[in-house]
This record gives sequence, C-alpha cells and structure tokens, in this order.
Amino acid sequence: MDLTLKNVTKNFGGLRAVGDVSFTVPDRSIYGLIGPNGAGKTTVFNLVTGVYKHDEGSIHLGKTDLRPLKPAEIARAGIARTFQNIRLFGQLTVIENLLVACEIDKKASLLSSVLRTKVHYEDESSMRDRALELLGVFDLAHTAEEPSTSLSYGNQRRLEIARAMMLKPKVLLLDEPAAGMNYGEAEGLKKQIRWLRDTFDLTVVLVEHNMQVVMGVCEEIHVLDHGETIAHGTPDQIRNDPAVLAAYLGEEADGTATLASDADAKAPSAKGDEASAKEPGAKGDEASTKGDEASAKGDEASAKGDEASAKDAKGDERGGKAGEGSS
Ligand SMILES: Nc1ncnc2c1ncn2[C@@H]1O[C@H](COP(=O)(O)OP(=O)(O)OP(=O)(O)O)[C@@H](O)[C@H]1O
Ligand SMILES: [Mg+2]
Repeated sequence: MDLTLKNVTKNFGGLRAVGDVSFTVPDRSIYGLIGPNGAGKTTVFNLVTGVYKHDEGSIHLGKTDLRPLKPAEIARAGIARTFQNIRLFGQLTVIENLLVACEIDKKASLLSSVLRTKVHYEDESSMRDRALELLGVFDLAHTAEEPSTSLSYGNQRRLEIARAMMLKPKVLLLDEPAAGMNYGEAEGLKKQIRWLRDTFDLTVVLVEHNMQVVMGVCEEIHVLDHGETIAHGTPDQIRNDPAVLAAYLGEEADGTATLASDADAKAPSAKGDEASAKEPGAKGDEASTKGDEASAKGDEASAKGDEASAKDAKGDERGGKAGEGSS
C-alpha cells in the first residue's frame, strides 16, 4: 500500500518544522527521507504515526486517511517504527522485548490469558516462534535470554527493528537505524533491510545520515531542509544535486563535490566508527544539538504512543512504565 503525504505542514509555535511537503512512498519500495539536522525528518515520522497531528495537508496509507486515527490505530493499520533514540525495555531480556510488542497483535482475550487456556498457550508459542525467527534474521537468536542492555549499540538498533516487525507491519519507518554502526555493521543492515522488504512484502521508509546505507539501499530519495522539500529523485540524481550538496555542506557546491556513495564508501578504521557513520557532516553542532533535543522530546511523545499501542489490547491506557530507554 502506498503511503502518501500531500502538502503536509506542521508548525511548533512560530517554527515551521514541516512545510508543504508532498511525496508518495510506493508499495514495497525502500524509500529514503534525508536532510541535515533539524530538517524535519523525525517530525514527518511523528506525523505519520499520529504522535503529532499535521496542521495542513493529508497523510494516507492506501485509501485510509490517517489524520483521525490514534497512534494505536495507525499501528494496527500497518505502520510500525523505530526511534532515533533507542527505546528498549532495559530490564527485559532480548526476546521479552519482542514479545511485549505483541500485546497489540494478541488474539487471546485478557480472560483467556488470565485463565491460561489453550488459545493463550498457542498464541504465546506462535509469538515466541516469530520472535526467534526475527532474532535469527538479525543474528541475535543466541542472545534471546540475555538482558537487552548487554547488546552492543548496533545490535540494540537491530533489536528495535525486530521488535517493530513483530507487529507484522505493511510499512516500516526506520529513524537512523545505522547511527553508531561501523562499516561492516552498516553493510549488514543494508542486506537485512532488503531481506525484510523481499520476505514480508514490506514498504520501508529510511531516515538516515549514513550515505553508505542511503545510497546503497534506497530506490528513491526525498530531501528536506528546514522543513521544506529541496530535492527528490534516484540516488544518482540526489548524490549530484547542487541544492542537496549545498544543504549538507552549508555552502554553494562547486560542481565537483558529491555525497559519499556506496561505491565510494571505504571501510573506516575500527576507531571512530560513529563519526564515519555520520557522513556527510551536519551543518553545525549547535543546530544538531537543538535538533536532537527536540527530537528527544518528540520521541518521548512517540514512546507514549507506543506504550498506548502495547497496552491497547488490554484496554489499559494508563498502565505501566514502558518506554524506558536503555540509552
Ligand atoms: N516537539 C517539538 N517542539 C518544538 N519544536 C520541535 C519539536 N519537535 C521538533 N521540533 C523542531 O522541528 C525541527 C525539525 O526537527 P526534527 O527532529 O524533525 O528534525 P530531524 O530532521 O529529525 O533532525 P535530526 O537529523 O537532527 O534528527 C527542528 O527545528 C526541531 O527543533
Ligand atoms: Mg531526527
């Protein structure tokens, strides 16, 4: 199912975080949404998942208008996401982190869970099977019973993707999944994203600063800067687009620069992986700090939405202290 944004605008007070943005993510595509820090990428994810409501325009999944839907309903309609700031349940094991996502997908009623009836056991074991299968995809099956906090940063990001996949989404929104990954891990991530798309007929929207991943895996790319669309096209078109280069490099491109591509990417030394994963450089530390602060706020709100979804099956919107980040 296509995901379509038409003339979407979102203001925070006097700040236009997203301004008149339109694009269509084709069914079963891998679609990139990129731009410098503060460009509005996470805000777009927050609008699509219903954490915030857009002020103008429309967002549709297929023919379904998402605006009236609550975050839990949007999740049920088939949209799942990961967060820019990792949000795992630190006190739970790896596999438990996947199983909590299933509350929303549980066929068994609360009563049958309480009574531990057959349907409950069947559901529990089919969810466990699915969780183990997904952990296998991400090479994490052997860590199933370990605390999620014992995983490396890169593996925690993969675990978040696996958790989102437990909801059997039609559309998967990934917010900087390669952040902090080294070259080899990022190469692995590209394969895993393709595998997920091909195996589950998934549509993937990828927000990412790591150009090795963006250029290597996306079929189409939409570029935002200061909330507005500055370019749209294939990786080859985007890589050489003067407006994109200027936005990333903070100056007029001289015609010789290009964004790093898959082919250009070189394996960095083991040291400094984080820095190399974040190429090309953002426009300035101050801007990026502000953006991070704001998106942390946004993510907090989304975690609440997530929490609501997880609790929804039980009809308990108030319960629990979910969303406890391990990062
Ligand atoms: N809840 C909020 N309240 C106020 N301003 C916000 C909020 N969320 C985001 N913003 C602002 O909206 C703009 C876009 O932020 P957003 O987090 O969407 O950027 P981004 O493209 O995801 O950046 P980054 O690459 O740093 O994650 C920024 O100027 C940010 O400060
Ligand atoms: Mg962001």
